[in-house]
Amino acid sequence: MKRQRLHLKAPDNWVNDPNGFIYYKGYYHLFYQYFPYGPRWGTMHWGHAVSRDLVTWEHRGIALYPTVREDRNGCFSGSAIEQDGKLYLVYTGVRYEVVNPEDPHTCLDEQFESAQLMITSEDGFHFDNENGKTVIIPPVTDKEIGDRTHTRDPKIWRGTDAWYLVLGSTVEEKYGELLFFRSEDLRTWTYVNKAWKGPEYGWMWECPDFFETEGGAVLMVSPMGLLKNGEKEKNQAVCFPVGFEESACRMDIPDEYQFTDYGMDLYAPQTTVDAEGRRVMEAWIRMPKPAEAGWIGMFCSPRVVERRGEHIYFRMHPNIRAACSEEITDPAEASPDGYMAVFELEDGEQADIGGLLITRDGNRIRADRTAVYPSFEGAHLISETPELKDGCRLEVLADDSLVEIYINDGEYVISNAVYGIGKTVKVSGGKTVRLYTMKADKENNEGMEGKSSEESYE
Ligand code: FRU
Repeated sequence: MKRQRLHLKAPDNWVNDPNGFIYYKGYYHLFYQYFPYGPRWGTMHWGHAVSRDLVTWEHRGIALYPTVREDRNGCFSGSAIEQDGKLYLVYTGVRYEVVNPEDPHTCLDEQFESAQLMITSEDGFHFDNENGKTVIIPPVTDKEIGDRTHTRDPKIWRGTDAWYLVLGSTVEEKYGELLFFRSEDLRTWTYVNKAWKGPEYGWMWECPDFFETEGGAVLMVSPMGLLKNGEKEKNQAVCFPVGFEESACRMDIPDEYQFTDYGMDLYAPQTTVDAEGRRVMEAWIRMPKPAEAGWIGMFCSPRVVERRGEHIYFRMHPNIRAACSEEITDPAEASPDGYMAVFELEDGEQADIGGLLITRDGNRIRADRTAVYPSFEGAHLISETPELKDGCRLEVLADDSLVEIYINDGEYVISNAVYGIGKTVKVSGGKTVRLYTMKADKENNEGMEGKSSEESYE
């Protein structure tokens, strides 16, 4: 399906990380890691989706694909900025030194090299894959700095007086680290400094994102091998309230982190600034097997990231709440795009969202998806938040593949991939549940009506 609302899903085949997320010339652009030849990970391309409002999305096909020596085996994750009206994408190009003899789309024993590349576009829709790519940071060969293989996922931003980018890397595959670079002109990049925490924080830090908010700076990172409890997904996205001194690129990272989402399906988040100046996040929602229609991988609803003191909030984006506002009395009346259920839970009470059970136990919220998710070794079926501070008000966004539980306006969020949910919502004690479904397409998407998808966004 080319057009999707609420939760953006793989158009077909496989998607993972969001890339190049930006509001540019009137459109939100969300690129993503895409394997076009089957529902599994392989040679990475950048797929592309656009939206006027972060609610209704349209898939636009492939934006980036391997064309040069440095990215011949994949265009890995990266990010976007705008400068002088142009869109700049930076990403990691991967070159396998030994291809897996059984499978041309993977490499053998991690024998590969990573470089950082840049490509620009005048309109956000056209990319010159043949002649438009430049290598901005060659493979890191200095072991004192980082790893030649596992250094990737540039996140770029404008600082006070220069451009900056941060890469995820590893110190001898023992612990993750960040590498900071600076540039005056977006072409020449100089390594400035690094930051790390140590072996308890995963062996490789993927997809770093750093940004300032009104309440202070935030680091988000996706450490590999963070969980040591036998669960299948050892890699988990976390965030820290940090201090950052720009001139020396010195980052002060505390010991304590929060999970970016407590459902343990959300990975590789990336943020940008929305049309109203809010810091907004998208992220990949992992799935263990393809949905019935054959696609695998999707994205969470956009979240507004705010730091208050040492806590980081992930609030439902106001455009989602506005779009999901047509009151209904029964989930059977909901549009296939999804619905929102709003209710409160007292200690011991439970809600049943089409088979996914949400319980309040003391001041924690627990979600149990056993009835709507495949069971396999290491499957994460039961999620739980830390102790809540601000009451217990829940807003649940649900469709057939994803249930997102926003708790106390984003104090914590639990997102769970599901494989079909029932059309019932019940809360113990017969408590009131307010139900809302997606309104019909808003006027700001009318431009697309009656036009072919080729015309609609250009
Ligand atoms: C995270 C990640 C990134 C990499 C990309 C490859 O999920 O492993 O580090 O760039 O996916 O698809």
